[in-house]
Amino acid sequence: MIRIVVVAGTLLLGAGAVMAQQAIAVQQDNLMRGQAKSLYTVIMKMTKGEIPYNQAAVDTAIKELEESVPTIPSVFATNPKEDVVNSFYGASQKVWQNKADFDSKVPPVIKAIADVKGKIQDVASLKVAYDSINGKCTECHETYRLKLK
Ligand code: HEC
Repeated sequence: MIRIVVVAGTLLLGAGAVMAQQAIAVQQDNLMRGQAKSLYTVIMKMTKGEIPYNQAAVDTAIKELEESVPTIPSVFATNPKEDVVNSFYGASQKVWQNKADFDSKVPPVIKAIADVKGKIQDVASLKVAYDSINGKCTECHETYRLKLK
């Protein structure tokens, strides 16, 4: 009887750990998707004229990035050791082998956001802002993001 309880308990713990790992991966993915929404779905589309320029939407997108980007090091603190099911991108194991270097890719993004904040007034200045922020996002992705499909 005790044996059965122990085995059942171990199985449950195992299932819990798998779920927790997937939840961590999802949380990390959601953080990135949120930043992509601000930078691509709003800002990039405006620079391309796919949606009309809208100052309030620009200001909100910049503010969201300003709040979200500094949380990258803590949201990626734990290695989920698995990818989000069906995701196009995953985190390289290098993130956790080299966490200090990974974290060092964040301040340049914060700085790029701070540098353009309050200076965007039209599509031309938005384009400059987009290029400079996106360049810094890419510097982390080049090393630490894997394309899964
Ligand atoms: C310090 C490193 C780092 C920085 C800075 C960073 N990212 Fe990421 N990003 C990652 C990693 C690692 C992944 C892959 C894991 C994941 O998707 O959670 C990723 C994934 C993504 C994805 C793919 C999500 C998916 O699965 O569909 C998008 C889009 C993205 N990032 C956008 C951005 C944008 C926009 C910025 C800049 C505002 C940014 N990232 C800054 C590390 C970073």
